[in-house]
Amino acid sequence: MFRFSFAVASLLLVAVATAAPATLRVQADRPGHAVSPMLHGVFFEEINRAGDGGLYAEMVQNRSFEDSESEPLSWTIEKSGDGASVGIDRTHPMNGDQEFNSCALRVQLPQGGVACIINDGFKGMSVRAKRQYQLSLMVRNGVDGEMNCALRTRAGKDLADVVKIEKTDGAWKKVDHRFTATGDAEDARLVIECKGSGEVSFDMVSLLPRSRWKGMPLRPDLAQMISDLRPAFMRFPGGCSVEGETLADAYRWKETIGDVAARRTQYNLGKYHSTHGLGFHEYLQLAEHLGAEPLFVINCGMSHKQVAPMAEMQPWVQDALDAIEYANGAADSTWGARRAKAGHERPFHLRYIQIGNENDGKEYDARYALFYDAIKKQHPDVRIVANSWHGKPTTRPIEILDEHYYDSPAFFFANADRYDKYDRSGPRICVGEFAVTKDCGQGNLIAALGEAAFMSGLERNSDVVMMSSYAPLLANVRYKTRNPAAICFDASRVYGTPSYFVQQMFATNRPDVVLPVQLSTKLPTLFATAGRKGDEVILKVVNASGDAQETEVAIDGVGESAIHIRAIVLTSAKPDDENSLDQPTKVTPGERDLLFAKPAFTYAFAPYSVTVMRMRARAGQD
Ligand code: AHR
Repeated sequence: MFRFSFAVASLLLVAVATAAPATLRVQADRPGHAVSPMLHGVFFEEINRAGDGGLYAEMVQNRSFEDSESEPLSWTIEKSGDGASVGIDRTHPMNGDQEFNSCALRVQLPQGGVACIINDGFKGMSVRAKRQYQLSLMVRNGVDGEMNCALRTRAGKDLADVVKIEKTDGAWKKVDHRFTATGDAEDARLVIECKGSGEVSFDMVSLLPRSRWKGMPLRPDLAQMISDLRPAFMRFPGGCSVEGETLADAYRWKETIGDVAARRTQYNLGKYHSTHGLGFHEYLQLAEHLGAEPLFVINCGMSHKQVAPMAEMQPWVQDALDAIEYANGAADSTWGARRAKAGHERPFHLRYIQIGNENDGKEYDARYALFYDAIKKQHPDVRIVANSWHGKPTTRPIEILDEHYYDSPAFFFANADRYDKYDRSGPRICVGEFAVTKDCGQGNLIAALGEAAFMSGLERNSDVVMMSSYAPLLANVRYKTRNPAAICFDASRVYGTPSYFVQQMFATNRPDVVLPVQLSTKLPTLFATAGRKGDEVILKVVNASGDAQETEVAIDGVGESAIHIRAIVLTSAKPDDENSLDQPTKVTPGERDLLFAKPAFTYAFAPYSVTVMRMRARAGQD
C-alpha cells in the first residue's frame, strides 16, 4: 500500500490523461433510496460440470454405474484371458428394489481370467502427497482369486498402498479405506484389478479427499471462491437444468435427498449426468454456510419440449409445498423430519421460491397461478419469483420478476440506464442471470466492463432491482459448454475471470443508500454510481474507453476537510485481456490509498477500468 499527497497524485494522474476532462459531482448530503441488501448473489447451476466434476469433491466419474444401462461410461476396461466379461448388471441391486440406482458393474472371470476396471475421474484425478483420501466401494465378491484397488498414475506408479478386497460370499459389503497419498499426480486413476475365477459386482465406487469445506464434501478452493463473492442470496439449481428437455428429465428435488447411493443419477441439459451428490439439502446447507438467502427454482410442470397437463399438475404443486416444509417445517413434520434425519434439525428458512425458469405463455400463466395460490395459502411469508420470458404472468400478482440478459458488451453498455426507466410501482426485479456472452473471448476485460456498467445501473436503481446474479458461476475448463463463466477450474487449479472480480467489487462495496451523481462527459463510455455506507461515500466508475479519463470529482456535503480514498481498480493493458489457468492473475484488482486536501479533486480513471473509491473525510492533512 502506498500513499500519494494531493500534489503528487494530481501530477501523476493528469500526466496520463488524454480525454477532455469530465466532471462528476456526488451529493453526499442527499441520500436517496436504500440499496437492496440482497442486490448481489450467486446463481448455482449444474452446467459446465459446476457440481459433478467441480464443486462436489467426488473424484470418481460415474461412481454408481448409472450413466448408462448398457455400458460403464467413463470406465476403461482392460481384460486378458479368454471369456472375461464386464458389463452393467441390474439383477442384484445394492439396495434391493429402490427406485433409483439399480445398476452395478459385474465382472465375470473364467478360470485364470484378469480384468482391470479403471476410472480417470474427470479427465485425470489430481492427488497430492500427504493429503488424506477416503476410498469406499460396495462389492459383492464371489471371485476365487485376488482382488485389489489401487490409486496410481497413468505410468503405473502407486500413489498409496494397494487395498485388498476380500470375498463377500454373495452379499454386498462396503469397503472403506482411509489413506494418505504418497505422491503428487494430475493424471491419477483408480484401478480395480480382478484375477481368478467367479463373479464380482461393484457399486458406489467413491474417492473423496478427506478435507472438506465447512464439513461439506466440496472442493475448498472453489467453495472459497464462491464465498469470497459474499453472496447475499443463492439461486439454485437452474436454469435450464430445472426444466429438462422433457418432463422425464425435469429436476425433482425429492429425487436428490437422502442416502447418496439411493439418489437419482440424472442426465441434464448440461449434457452430462449429475449424481445429485449436491442435492436439495446440500444446496440449502451451502447457502447457509455462505450466509446467503436460498432462492429455490422449482420446475412448474414445464420442460423444454413437454408440459404436464393441468389435470396432472397436483404432484408438481405438492413438490413446492413439500420443499418448503422440508426447508422450514418443524422437525416432527413429514418433510421437516427428513431434513432433521439428514442432520439439520433447525429449519433452513427458505423465504424465496421461483416458479419455473424461462417458461412463458398461457401455459406458464396457468401454472404460475396454481403454484401461487397453493404457496400463498399455506406459506404466506414465502416470496414468489415469477419468470419474465417473452412476457410475464398476468393471472396472479407478481412479487418479484426474474429477468435474464445474455448479450454483447455493447448491449450491456447501452443498458446501463435500463432500470432508470422502470415503473416504480411495478414488481421488484431479480436479474437472476446475466453475462456478456458475445465478443468476449473466454471472459475478457471488456466483457467485465460491460457488466460493470450495467451493474452501476442496478445499484442506482436498487429500489426496483432487488437481486442480481451472474451466470454461469462455474466451469470446468475441460468440459465447458457455456462460455464464459465467473469461476474456471480444472482438477486442481482455479481462477476468476475479470467478470468474477467485477461481481466481487460490487458485492463487497455495496452502499446502504444511493447518492445522486451528476456526470458530465464527452465519453459515452463513462459510467458512475455512488452511495453511502456509514460515514463512507462509495463511488464506482467504469471507463470503457481506451483513454484515461481525467475527471474533476466533487463530493458535496462532507465539509471541507481532506479526504482519504481507498481506490480499488480493475484494469489491464488491452480490453481483450483475460485470465487463464496459466495466468490466473493477469487481470485482477489492485488497491491503493490516496489522500486529497479537499473533497474536490482531479483524478484520471484508467483506460479500460472499473474503479471503486471508498472515501472518508479526514480531519487535518497528511
Ligand atoms: O446459464 C445458462 C442457461 O442460460 C441457463 O440454464 C438458462 O436459464 C439460460 O438460458
